[in-house]
Amino acid sequence: MAAWLTAGGCATTAEHKMETGPLVIAHRGASGERPEHTLLAYELAIKQGADYIEPDLVPTKDGHLVVRHENNIVETTDIAQHPEFAARRTTKTIDGVKETGWFTEDFTLAELKTLRAIERLPQMRPANTQYNGQAEIPTLEEVIALAKRAGAESGRTIGIYPETKHPSYFAALGLAIEPKLLAALKKAGWDRADAPVFIQSFEVNNLKALHQKTKVRLIQLIKPATAPADGSYATYREMAEPAALKQIAAYAYGIGPELTQILAADNKPTTLIADAHAAGLKVHPWTFRAENAFLNLAYRTGTDPAEHGRLLEEIRFFIGLGVDGFFTDYPYIGAQARESFRTPAK
Ligand code: G3P
Ligand code: CA
Repeated sequence: MAAWLTAGGCATTAEHKMETGPLVIAHRGASGERPEHTLLAYELAIKQGADYIEPDLVPTKDGHLVVRHENNIVETTDIAQHPEFAARRTTKTIDGVKETGWFTEDFTLAELKTLRAIERLPQMRPANTQYNGQAEIPTLEEVIALAKRAGAESGRTIGIYPETKHPSYFAALGLAIEPKLLAALKKAGWDRADAPVFIQSFEVNNLKALHQKTKVRLIQLIKPATAPADGSYATYREMAEPAALKQIAAYAYGIGPELTQILAADNKPTTLIADAHAAGLKVHPWTFRAENAFLNLAYRTGTDPAEHGRLLEEIRFFIGLGVDGFFTDYPYIGAQARESFRTPAK
């Protein structure tokens, strides 16, 4: 059981955590209910109680940072409907994966601003398609401004949790993400250790370099398979071992593992949370989603992959295991799960 669930007595860090609970991180915004990475999705996430909103960052040709999960924007924008850009459709290999589509680094910000976001999973989330065409691709600065504005209006601190996407690939193109990100944080007054900001990356070397340049908290993302694109480790798997976790703790505040690295397929919890905590690292896993297709088998309801299962119970289970925060496409369910620990049943 997590220490903060059992703590009591005087005002301790554990008690403070009992009051605040694990962080609810809106994964690409409230992306279960709005097209991902739009101000619509972020605004809803904040209304639903998210502490942090997550922008994944990729650069434009003219050096701005925009918010998309991939630099290939074919699945999340209406670019295929723009004949003026048809000739820029191309095929590239990014971190070893061949991709065909349209890529942010081939467009100026002004050009990208003529596009509109669409729902990535129209079969799984058909209700979200009513918002297709309504929202622009946001810039990092627009997301920071929203977080600050919403924080001031709500009286809560709303933070941002940016992810550097394909950092080595973009650095090789002369479009490094990190300097732009640090400049934006500095401009926002969020270049401090206590700023409501976490910077995350699936690569290692860019986080190590960031550690030399900023006090902002850094999160090392890991996965069950494959390896970091920068060649820093032979596998992600070894990065979850206690020896590697100690190395990660030298530059990072925490790790962001995939859910199955905490609750294995046999439904038995792994030692990852305990190992990370022993190394002095926080644990922020990804990604809780309500649809059966994404849920642990034990929390599914019925056989329709798009039907919502028992996500609240799944999140409660992970909170009980001791996660310090979690990414979810449904921040309202995340906030409810956290609240249910604060208010014990009568
Ligand atoms: O950043 C945490 C989680 O979002 C990593 O997965 O692929 O959704 O960026 P992805
Ligand atoms: Ca992400």
